[in-house]
Amino acid sequence: MDQADAQARLQALRREIADHDYRYYVQDAPSIPDAEYDRLIEELQALEAEYPQLVTPDSPSQRVGGTPSAAFTPVRHMVPMLSLANAFDDEAVRDFGRRVRELAGEAAVDYHCEPKFDGLAISLLYRQGVLVRAATRGDGSTGEDVTANVRTIACVPLRLRGDAPAVLEVRGEVYMPREGFLRLNAEQAARGDKPFVNPRNAAAGSLRQLDPRITASRPLRFYCHGYGQVEGTLPDRHGDVLSALELLGLPVCPQRRRVADIDACLAYYAELGARRAELPYDIDGVVYKVDRLDLQRRLGFVARAPRWALAHKFPAEEAVTVLENIEVQIGRTGAVTPVARLAPVFVGGVTVTNATLHNEDELRRKDVRVGDSVVVRRAGDVIPEVVRVVTERRPVDARVFEMPAQCPVCGSDIVRLDGEAVSRCSGGLHCPAQVKAGIAHFASRRAMDIDGLGDKLIEQLVDRGLVRDVADIYTLDAATVAGLERMAEKSAANLVAAIEASKQVTLARFVFALGIPQVGEEIARILADHFHSLGAIRSADWAALAQEKKEIQKENTKRRGRKEPLAPVPLPGIGEHIITSLSTFFGDGRNESVIERLLEHGITLETPAPEPADSTLAGKTFVITGTFSRSREELTAALQQRGARVTGSVSRNTDFVAVGDNPGSKADKAAQLGIATLDEAGLMAILEVPDSR
Ligand code: IVH
Repeated sequence: MDQADAQARLQALRREIADHDYRYYVQDAPSIPDAEYDRLIEELQALEAEYPQLVTPDSPSQRVGGTPSAAFTPVRHMVPMLSLANAFDDEAVRDFGRRVRELAGEAAVDYHCEPKFDGLAISLLYRQGVLVRAATRGDGSTGEDVTANVRTIACVPLRLRGDAPAVLEVRGEVYMPREGFLRLNAEQAARGDKPFVNPRNAAAGSLRQLDPRITASRPLRFYCHGYGQVEGTLPDRHGDVLSALELLGLPVCPQRRRVADIDACLAYYAELGARRAELPYDIDGVVYKVDRLDLQRRLGFVARAPRWALAHKFPAEEAVTVLENIEVQIGRTGAVTPVARLAPVFVGGVTVTNATLHNEDELRRKDVRVGDSVVVRRAGDVIPEVVRVVTERRPVDARVFEMPAQCPVCGSDIVRLDGEAVSRCSGGLHCPAQVKAGIAHFASRRAMDIDGLGDKLIEQLVDRGLVRDVADIYTLDAATVAGLERMAEKSAANLVAAIEASKQVTLARFVFALGIPQVGEEIARILADHFHSLGAIRSADWAALAQEKKEIQKENTKRRGRKEPLAPVPLPGIGEHIITSLSTFFGDGRNESVIERLLEHGITLETPAPEPADSTLAGKTFVITGTFSRSREELTAALQQRGARVTGSVSRNTDFVAVGDNPGSKADKAAQLGIATLDEAGLMAILEVPDSR
């Protein structure tokens, strides 16, 4: 066989293998026996070994390639990956239906119903039909590049079939079928490795492997449930988009259905709920989506979730077990949480041995006593909780729990301030429990993401005086770490590499990692988007900001009465309590010095503005008002990609105001200030100007 023949044979083999993959994974109808399929793969591999110059990146032999990497690179999503609003009962679903009809201005709206897959969200980017990137959701704005790992998932096509759009970003869920999960755990047990608690954690853990060969050995699957950036045409209904994706070779779940109204949505929920145990994969509810894409656009988004979709969750699972003891746990802000130690019980897919009792008042209200039989509830990834006592089963010697007066860890007084539900250990940074919890938070996945720095290790590091605060983490070297218990040289080196890699971090993650009371991920992101730099956050005049917010809110109350358009409030979602917390945190010299030392150790903060793909609109500031045929998020992303800034309010610094249907007061303001306006056609024209670089 000469090279030309080999080339032709390779092409034929690749097409045939891709065809079988499609039949097996997408159509669920394999047409040849496994042995025959394996023979095709072997022939392909043999031929590619003989002609390595003919290997192509989309060849089925190239699913597992490359070498293990040290870390995942961040990926900024061009269209943000949003979350879903949740409903837990029929009434909330009916409310959703009413809202949708009202806002869409339609008498009847049909929906597309889908399972809510219990896996992890992934975005796949295809250019000219070839898979070029896969990224995790991350915080919705920035995820991680997991391309090498996703390529190993056999049902994810490396090349799309048929006429694929020039750019197609597919969104969906990577999950582990239950059968594969059980097999994997049996293998883990046989090797003496720790089993995974549930398929979701197993899928997440498998996808976050630095060595793609490990991911390849895990039984992962993928289902599409939407799309992001698209250049090319798509059908005008969500259900039809999924069918079109299926024709392109992408796996779409067969349990989906278009229905005519909310009643039919509820019927779908009941039906799928009844069949839940028979499904080959875990689901935690169903998702309803307005089927017509024009209505989706009309409905738009609120906060981080679309108004046109709703997740209807299955009720949390409950089980009864014996409460053997109550202990207290000290959190990073000193909060004392009573924790129930339970006789092990299987609930919500995992074995539970601890459950939170929240705080003293809750514990008294539920009258929970040691020795009681209690109902334990667990939903999704939330911490299990004790719901109530089965009083009929109370033993005569059940013991009432007394909150300790001193911290069991540092001996400092436990105090409870007037009006607060929580008791706190007053030891502050003297309390090793608070220090440890603060470090664990700092290192956690959604914060600095220091892989390998878990509770056990933190325990040793703090107890031996090697780490007193989060800045000390960056003084650790491999030799010191290798000297700790249960630390091999390899894992010590990995940890030091993970610490080094964590120095490159987004501003939002860093602010979250600091563990400022009341500042969660979402608040940290709002702060990062508003201030753009750590310097600006540190030197912010919080008192003035609180005052400004108060004044605008007062003014808005008046305007609301007069039915006038409202003024935008700076830092929406950040109320007085949070501002006080920020002011206290940044006003404390000890925190300032920890931040200084972190920066000296080389922490580099990435500012949140997305990398522009070109610079045609660099330096230009846009404001968008009214409705367009594309969503606000899409337009914002498209403008930012070209280097523009998109802000919420019109000022003299605004260059253009894009005015859609039913514009707000911003259009009037633009006219007042004499700022250029663009209608939909004008905006599209600007977005299509070729880059001159
Ligand atoms: S649509 C803009 N459909 O649920 C709408 N999400 O709570 C974005 N999920 O991060 C999501 N099954 O990972 C959608 N059929 C489904 C889903 C689904 C599971 C996950 C998804 C998302 C999370 C939001």
